[in-house]
Amino acid sequence: MIESIKARICYDSRGDESIEVDVKVDGVVGRACAPKGASVGRREAVNFNPAGVEATLRLLFEYSPKLIGLDSSDIQLLSQVLREIDGTENFSRIGGAAAYAITVATAEATAKAKGIPLYKLLSPEGDYSMPYPLGNVLCGGKHAGRGAPDIQEFLVCPVGAKSIKEALKANMMVHKEVRKQIEKKDPYFTGGKGDEGGWTPHVKDEEAFELVSSSLKMVSDALGIDIRLGNDFASSSFWDDDKKMYVYSRAGVERSPGEQLEFIMDLVKKYNLFYLEDPFQEEAYDEFVELTKKLRGVYIVGDDLFVTNTSRLLKGAKIGAGNAAILKVNQVGTLGDAIEFAASARECKYALITSHRSGDSTDVHLAHIAIATQSEMIKCGIVGGERLSKLNELLRIDEEIGGCYMIGLEV
Ligand code: PGA
Ligand code: ZN
Repeated sequence: MIESIKARICYDSRGDESIEVDVKVDGVVGRACAPKGASVGRREAVNFNPAGVEATLRLLFEYSPKLIGLDSSDIQLLSQVLREIDGTENFSRIGGAAAYAITVATAEATAKAKGIPLYKLLSPEGDYSMPYPLGNVLCGGKHAGRGAPDIQEFLVCPVGAKSIKEALKANMMVHKEVRKQIEKKDPYFTGGKGDEGGWTPHVKDEEAFELVSSSLKMVSDALGIDIRLGNDFASSSFWDDDKKMYVYSRAGVERSPGEQLEFIMDLVKKYNLFYLEDPFQEEAYDEFVELTKKLRGVYIVGDDLFVTNTSRLLKGAKIGAGNAAILKVNQVGTLGDAIEFAASARECKYALITSHRSGDSTDVHLAHIAIATQSEMIKCGIVGGERLSKLNELLRIDEEIGGCYMIGLEV
């Protein structure tokens, strides 16, 4: 039973204000801090009340007595009550950040009170497997300064790893190797990193592909495991809706949707890409369908397209838009809705990638959510405290379960 709720303003990894909540269940406290994106989908839950973070906190103090006494183990009920209190489609009154922090903190407290780990509370059936870590080694777009590439994320994944230990070692090595390769090209590289811990060299997209793919090959050869490259294009952030063009301002190139499709097909061929997140803008269902038809063996992933919203996913699944979905709890607002989204993705045979946000905290819940939803991958960066907290938690869970197997990635 929820006994008490405390909340405060805290800070995320970008130094922005966020909401942190403590929920007490049967004498035990669970705590969660809401993360926050920079390349935010138009259809996402709104983070705060329009009057700001202070107003969001004040509101929370007003309505939280209504949550006291609720059965804390009924995750769906709590989500529903919060939706009713909010009364909008997208949490634009009480704020998605508050909904996130209340629901995740409640789940943590409930698990602690029951003496079980969070992933077990969320998924009591015990056939757990480890997600593959998808790590950001080079940042561009909205996560980096103006000299960096237009494409937001260059991601690596050790698809040939047999264990999470091996997988993390590979990602750490690639991250280090990318820096070395950058320094070879630019002896004055300052070692700057973007919001998610990937390097931010002063290069265009094409050079970034060369740097990352050669680094990845070196580590892959040294460890004898297959490591693959993928991207989050975050295309909505450079889509010009008036011009109907993808504007790569740093590269000085504009691409029509057709040219974008060709560009992506060429990249897949040239760099053997295995993962394409938001290759088109957030309303481009038809282009997603076309690309999905054209490519085999590649994850075509909706992030801003689906925004962890079950009806948007079902719309996409009906027409074959993509074959994988990002799961970000704060995109939809509540943990209950996110769990429901994961179940729908399973039914539609979409792969799941549980993901951090570019502004995040040192909370570890993401690791548990990835395991509980049987996500094929967890996307949470490689270095930086707020990224490592999740990865190190996977190592602890692995130890607890006794060497979790990795199921292998198949598209
Ligand atoms: P965001 O970036 O957290 O800034 O939205 C992550 C992503 O686009 O996947
Ligand atoms: Zn994304």
